[in-house]
Amino acid sequence: MFKTVAISAVTALALSTGGAFAAGEGGHTKDVDFSFEGPFGSFDQFQLQRGLQVYTEICSSCHGLQYVPLRTLSDPGGPQFSDAEVRAYAENYEVFDEELDDFRAATPVDHFPGSNLENAPDLSLMAKARAGFHGPAGTGINQLVKGMGGPEYIYSLLTGYTGETKEEAGTTLYENEAHPGTWIAMAPPLYGEDVEYADGHENDLSAIAKDVSAFLMWTAEPKMMDRKQAGLTGVIFLTLLSVLLYLTNKRIWKPIKKKYES
Ligand code: HEC
Repeated sequence: MFKTVAISAVTALALSTGGAFAAGEGGHTKDVDFSFEGPFGSFDQFQLQRGLQVYTEICSSCHGLQYVPLRTLSDPGGPQFSDAEVRAYAENYEVFDEELDDFRAATPVDHFPGSNLENAPDLSLMAKARAGFHGPAGTGINQLVKGMGGPEYIYSLLTGYTGETKEEAGTTLYENEAHPGTWIAMAPPLYGEDVEYADGHENDLSAIAKDVSAFLMWTAEPKMMDRKQAGLTGVIFLTLLSVLLYLTNKRIWKPIKKKYES
């Protein structure tokens, strides 16, 4: 029994490291080490804050985050801004108030606005809507080892422009190594040094793309930390329970076993 399990485990590992990690037909997703990976991983509060800055200064001119309530920016496990900071940030946005029948500055109870540009998709859930990693022949082994690869896909997309463009039906398309269809209608939004971080953190293309991808993972799964903690508690509890059950079982059958052994 143990031998079979061991052999399958080794085979699984060998297969998963086989380097098959294509996204769709053409896409190539780079693997990125994020702080929130693994059972003990957690979001890096300061990275999320930097990612919000990138979203605000660059992506928000086209993309919305309509499913994300502004107040969650102060939630534990997220960017954790103070309430006053969230209130000040919310005022950057305008929302339509039906009671006033007019636009007013947003407050923390409102959501981020939707997309400004019609063909730019909302980014709230994008990091979970895309899977960068696929298992060889659909086995899902790569995903088991590396995760779904949503934020990795976004990172790869932002850093995957080749510089080639073409015109198709009046729109310019840009060649991108990560996009499954190779050609995408989004012009390269980042070049590096697009934002200036207050803490002087690195702002080359790779660093900025990583920060905004981490931020978009948080918008897609803001309760990831809670989920991991609950999962871990469950595993510890079940392990203890198994040990106790094993010992109880031994103890209950002990007199009977003795009787038949002699
Ligand atoms: C000038 C407008 C514009 C800006 C700025 C912009 N995007 Fe986009 N983005 C688009 C459009 C348009 C599409 C749809 C492209 C398509 O479907 O071919 C898109 C698509 C995407 C997609 C989805 C790709 C897919 O797999 O379908 C992601 C992810 C994305 N953008 C992320 C970002 C991020 C992150 C930023 C900020 C760093 C950003 N975008 C800035 C216009 C923009």
